[in-house]
Amino acid sequence: MFTLKFGLYALGALAAAQSGLAAPAEDASVQYLPSKRDVIEEAPLYAEGGPKFTDVHKVFNFANQWFNAPLAACAATKAYRALIKDRLSVKDDGTAVGEVAVNFPWTPNGPQKIVVQHAQTPVNSTNDPWWPSAIKWAATNRENLGIEGLNGDGGVTEGKPEDAYRLITNREAARVSNPTPDDLNKYIFWASAAAIAIGMGDSAENITTWSAITKADPGPTEEGSIGYYDFESGTEKTMSSSDAEKNVRALIIDKITAEAQVA
Ligand SMILES: *[C@@H]1O[C@H](CO)[C@@H](O)[C@H](O)[C@H]1NC(C)=O
Ligand SMILES: *[C@@H]1O[C@H](CO)[C@@H](O)[C@H](O)[C@H]1NC(C)=O
Repeated sequence: MFTLKFGLYALGALAAAQSGLAAPAEDASVQYLPSKRDVIEEAPLYAEGGPKFTDVHKVFNFANQWFNAPLAACAATKAYRALIKDRLSVKDDGTAVGEVAVNFPWTPNGPQKIVVQHAQTPVNSTNDPWWPSAIKWAATNRENLGIEGLNGDGGVTEGKPEDAYRLITNREAARVSNPTPDDLNKYIFWASAAAIAIGMGDSAENITTWSAITKADPGPTEEGSIGYYDFESGTEKTMSSSDAEKNVRALIIDKITAEAQVA
């Protein structure tokens, strides 16, 4: 049941993302988007295998992890990459990709479409992936987005990762606090096809670090492990399932997957 629902959803999202794509001319002055789809460094969003979760670190301060973690989790999960691609539409006029429209189908105040100019973002060189920066600019500069922590002044204050998750995926997110070892098995080790953010800290009420699951090594009978993205160091780290039981105080996952896992 889970697989079927999820598979259909992912296919629909992919089809939608692909139908919106067209390659602008190459060698324009700014070309971070689909200009060269086969070379990931030159088209971090649209090339095969893109976007990558490591792109997120380059343009976000790690103080904003509640927003970063769901974004990186989506980039780390194949079926969810289409959802990120779906959020951005570029002008298809054959000229430089200097502008992108960021589409948020869901916010508490209704759908929003926010046009972002390349020059408005802090991206400096052609090696910086533009896509996370465009999403961040859109999320932080629209007044009345209605999301706690995104105040329209370009800054990010304390917010809820489930809001960021829904903003990015347009899928309602569930928070699982104090996951039991069984929950961890279900959500992390068995649901590696879903984007999952994890919260670590001394309690579910005091999460000090939000991170993204980057890979899961399922091991229902043996010790498994998870890869997670450490924003502070900009590296992927690994944690055993027993360490996950000790450290992970909250999980953010989409509601459909959460319900399918519980069923
Ligand atoms: C661009 O340069 C500024 C100033 O040196 C720096 O603060 C910013 O982090 C850089 N942006 C990226 C994406 O590296
Ligand atoms: C939250 O956790 C941090 C790091 O462990 C700790 O320094 C801080 O005192 C805690 N805050 C509360 C309110 O418990």
